[in-house]
Amino acid sequence: MAQIMMRKIGLSGACVVVGITRRSSSRCLVTNSNKMSLKKKERELPSEADVTKSVFMSQSTDIFTNLALEDWMYRNMDFTNHHVMMVWRNEPCVVIGRHQNPWLEANISHLSEKEIALARRNSGGGTVYHDRGNLNITFFTPRERYDRKYNLELIKRALFRGFGIKSVINKRDDIVVRDNYKISGTAAKLGRLTAYHHCTLLVNANKADLSKALAKREHGIQTKATESTRSPVANLADLDNKITVEGLQTAVGYEYLRTPALNIEDGGQDLIMKQRGFQFINPTEDWFPGLSELREELQTWDWCYGRTPVFTVSRTFPVPAELLAPTRIYAASQELVINMTVEKGLISDVTLHIPPGLVESGFHGEASVITHLKGKRFTSEALNALQDAMLTRHLSSNDKKLDEREQFVAKCFDQVVNTV
Ligand SMILES: *[C@@H]1O[C@H](CO)[C@@H](O)[C@H](O)[C@H]1NC(C)=O
Ligand SMILES: *[C@@H]1O[C@H](CO)[C@@H](O)[C@H](O)[C@H]1NC(C)=O
Ligand SMILES: *[C@@H]1O[C@H](CO)[C@@H](O)[C@H](O)[C@H]1NC(C)=O
Repeated sequence: MAQIMMRKIGLSGACVVVGITRRSSSRCLVTNSNKMSLKKKERELPSEADVTKSVFMSQSTDIFTNLALEDWMYRNMDFTNHHVMMVWRNEPCVVIGRHQNPWLEANISHLSEKEIALARRNSGGGTVYHDRGNLNITFFTPRERYDRKYNLELIKRALFRGFGIKSVINKRDDIVVRDNYKISGTAAKLGRLTAYHHCTLLVNANKADLSKALAKREHGIQTKATESTRSPVANLADLDNKITVEGLQTAVGYEYLRTPALNIEDGGQDLIMKQRGFQFINPTEDWFPGLSELREELQTWDWCYGRTPVFTVSRTFPVPAELLAPTRIYAASQELVINMTVEKGLISDVTLHIPPGLVESGFHGEASVITHLKGKRFTSEALNALQDAMLTRHLSSNDKKLDEREQFVAKCFDQVVNTV
């Protein structure tokens, strides 16, 4: 272990000093109000032969660190003369796109039970599940040289050269094998100067864990947030049981280095020798000043959950007959309806429609309860607030338990917010 640490530090030390050119000059340039025209004139991109390439291997398996590193590189590095492909792996986690609703995309209770992180990334697109059985790849280029097709084609060639695996790139820019089984997910971020495209390749990800983490429940959520499209997925190890994440990383890395910066051609060993090669990256604050701040931010509830586009929830629960007033027969069905609007992850509006049967049988909870819910997080925080509010309505102070009608309401509410 100690040895490995030493090696990492040694290598990343060499790399960060040599490999990273910060974008300070271009930054000053773009503060000018005339930046668009200036940019066009000033930004002469080098010819293909003058672009060198590196493969960065992140030594972290923490999703927030890796997302922060990606963001750091995007903000601070100059890729004009130097294209970078970064590869990494993560401990089990679910990553949602920038404009998605986590309650819709993942089973949040399952994630917290299993201590699986949920992260929101800066790029758009759909939700992916990660574990150590998949490889993440990010291609950094100047914005003008963003080329998704090139990147996917490169991976396709690596799969064939390294493992004899034939794959196809479909219209949705997924890499598929056999009968349309997806082995990759893809998303991108395009900035003014820099762009990146990241994709993930499933090597031997745990598919059972994957479907549990992303299981859809009944939710009653309505939203304009981007919803993920689900496709059948395959592991590359199903096609070739000798393939490992390390092996794939090496194969894709060499393919990247032997391919010229702009055109899919084989530059062979000669071209590999001209590149900057493989470099271990140790994503710490020392090497990447400002990284921990980016990481902190990515980890906050406000970013992961609070950035969810506004949504409404409507759920209907039949009231069990034994909770209704026993002496009466009701014409209409007796249903509890819970409607809610959630903004920035916080409840901004609630309506409880309580059927007459429940009210007559002794439940009276509505208005005052509801004011207690406003501003609460769409989590068990709201459930607790509801329970507290119902309890404070109990007149005698020694009656500190919810009665069975209140328990029923609380249970329904739990199903709405607690994603069970
Ligand atoms: C979500 O996870 C919880 C807790 O592990 C589990 O009880 C529930 O059945 C899961 N929901 C779905 C839709 O799989
Ligand atoms: C890896 O790639 C996937 C798919 O594009 C993306 O959702 C995920 O955020 C990436 N991981 C990191 C750490 O950026
Ligand atoms: C709850 O929302 C549903 C769906 O939006 C709507 O049809 C219903 O009228 C609402 N009920 C109440 C009591 O607000």
